[in-house]
Amino acid sequence: MDMVSFFFHLIVLLSLPTISISLIKRSIQTDQHALLALKSHLSDPSDLLKKNWTTRVCVCNWSGVTCSSRHQRVSALNISFLGLQGSIPPEIGNLSFLNSIDLRCNNLHGNLPEETVHLRRLKYINLNFNKFSGVVPSWFGFLPNLQYLYLSNNSFTGTLPLSLFNASKLVDVNISYNELQGNIPKEISNLGILKILAMVGNQFTGSIPTTVFNVSSLQIIGLTFNLLTGNLPEKICSKLSKLQRISLSWNKLSGPIHSRFENCSELQYLSLSVNDFSGILPREIGNLTALKYMALGRNYFTGEIPPVIGDLRNLEGLGIEECSLTGPVPKEIGNLEKLNMLYLHNNALSGQIPESLFNISSLRVISLTDNYFSRSLPPAIGHKLPNLEKLGLGANKLSGIIPGFHLKFH
Ligand SMILES: *[C@@H]1O[C@H](CO)[C@@H](O)[C@H](O)[C@H]1NC(C)=O
Ligand SMILES: *[C@@H]1O[C@H](CO)[C@@H](O)[C@H](O)[C@H]1NC(C)=O
Ligand SMILES: *[C@@H]1O[C@H](CO)[C@@H](O)[C@H](O)[C@H]1NC(C)=O
Ligand SMILES: *[C@@H]1O[C@H](CO)[C@@H](O)[C@H](O)[C@H]1NC(C)=O
Ligand SMILES: *[C@@H]1O[C@H](CO)[C@@H](O)[C@H](O)[C@H]1NC(C)=O
Ligand SMILES: *[C@@H]1O[C@H](CO)[C@@H](O)[C@H](O)[C@H]1NC(C)=O
Ligand SMILES: *[C@@H]1O[C@H](CO)[C@@H](O)[C@H](O)[C@H]1NC(C)=O
Ligand SMILES: *[C@@H]1O[C@H](CO)[C@@H](O)[C@H](O)[C@H]1NC(C)=O
Ligand SMILES: *[C@@H]1O[C@H](CO)[C@@H](O)[C@H](O)[C@H]1NC(C)=O
Ligand SMILES: *[C@@H]1O[C@H](CO)[C@@H](O)[C@H](O)[C@H]1NC(C)=O
Ligand SMILES: *[C@@H]1O[C@H](CO)[C@@H](O)[C@H](O)[C@H]1NC(C)=O
Repeated sequence: MDMVSFFFHLIVLLSLPTISISLIKRSIQTDQHALLALKSHLSDPSDLLKKNWTTRVCVCNWSGVTCSSRHQRVSALNISFLGLQGSIPPEIGNLSFLNSIDLRCNNLHGNLPEETVHLRRLKYINLNFNKFSGVVPSWFGFLPNLQYLYLSNNSFTGTLPLSLFNASKLVDVNISYNELQGNIPKEISNLGILKILAMVGNQFTGSIPTTVFNVSSLQIIGLTFNLLTGNLPEKICSKLSKLQRISLSWNKLSGPIHSRFENCSELQYLSLSVNDFSGILPREIGNLTALKYMALGRNYFTGEIPPVIGDLRNLEGLGIEECSLTGPVPKEIGNLEKLNMLYLHNNALSGQIPESLFNISSLRVISLTDNYFSRSLPPAIGHKLPNLEKLGLGANKLSGIIPGFHLKFH
């Protein structure tokens, strides 16, 4: 190596750190600029940002700010639970290394600026419990790494943008408690690794697209409090063998249940109450052996409670109140050794209340009012219900004395 070239290499080597340091400085300064712009847009009742987000220290030391050790750039922003007011400025789109933004539980309004679409690394967006409004931004679907999207308890309106279903890495979506309308798009089946879909408390109409029941990764489906119509599909879990919870209460769903509940071996929570379902309760509900809660009340179910109900050994809560059930309560109900709450009031059930029911020591609530139960209560019923808090037997045709209960009142 000749002298000139040696010195050339030496100079290059020596100057490299300076170059990279100034690069880091410039980019972390971009982050600082963006966060100061954010700070200036927000009113901050606890003065946390005012006191803490000062240029005297590096942004990486600011409260709620995390930097990646590799790039020394802001990777996470968490300014949740601060009562912040205001809106998010476009400079947020300059935090190019951001992978997580948590703004939950503030009073932020407006919408996320569309510059946010530049944040290609974003995996996690949490806007829960704010006052964000307008349509759900279509560019969410262009964030290639988005996995967790939480928009619940805001004021988003309009229909869901179809592009959202292009964010194929989504795992958990919760857009509950907004004012969203229109159909649930069938494109939902593009989300091949989705585990949680929560759309509770909106104004969605139309039927539940059958494609939902093709997303085999789904574990939780929450569609309570909407205006959905149509029937329950025949095959709920055939493809959804990991399904743990499905809540469809408070809609306008109708027709009989003719699902055979095949492959529902993980299903713990089935909630269909307050709809217009009708027909009999099929024997096949006995296949739901993992079920802990079954809420079917306030529908138009008729016929008898099938004895296979006794196969649901994990049931803790059973509600089939305010329907048109007839016949006796099957004695197999006594097999439900974990049952806490039983709601069968306002039906047309008759016969003797089975003695086996009073054998379930975990029972806290028994509600049997407004039926046609007759004859006397079994004499031993007081002895095995140490946890009983509520017993509703009114408006029946029971006779005889009420045996000595040891009721626990709270
Ligand atoms: C950040 O805080 C640490 C101590 O918590 C301190 O050692 C460091 O100098 C601070 N860095 C900057 C750039 O303010
Ligand atoms: C800002 O908050 C961080 C984290 O809570 C703390 O370590 C730091 O000392 C605070 N800085 C100032 C200037 O208050
Ligand atoms: C943000 O901070 C809150 C506590 O202040 C914490 O509960 C929450 O898990 C944090 N968010 C993320 C994404 O880590
Ligand atoms: C950051 O974002 C704003 C608004 O989007 C823009 O005007 C500005 O030039 C950007 N760049 C830097 C380095 O702050
Ligand atoms: C969705 O968010 C709401 C809060 O608005 C919460 O109560 C609910 O548990 C969440 N649902 C799921 C499935 O995580
Ligand atoms: C979320 O919104 C629903 C419906 O408006 C409301 O009932 C619930 O209390 C809200 N949750 C919180 C924690 O504000
Ligand atoms: C979804 O992505 C594909 C491929 O990138 C594109 O062709 C299509 O237009 C996108 N759909 C929407 C609704 O944005
Ligand atoms: C569900 O997926 C199967 C193949 O995996 C396909 O044949 C069927 O058409 C899909 N059904 C719906 C409603 O998307
Ligand atoms: C149950 O799920 C398995 C895979 O998880 C599948 O092979 C089988 O065909 C399913 N059975 C029914 C009846 O859909
Ligand atoms: C479901 O229940 C029906 C009727 O009780 C029964 O014939 C069938 O074998 C059960 N299927 C499974 C997969 O448990
Ligand atoms: C109540 O349980 C006892 C044992 O715990 C059992 O011997 C009895 O047959 C049960 N009674 C009814 C009516 O199921």
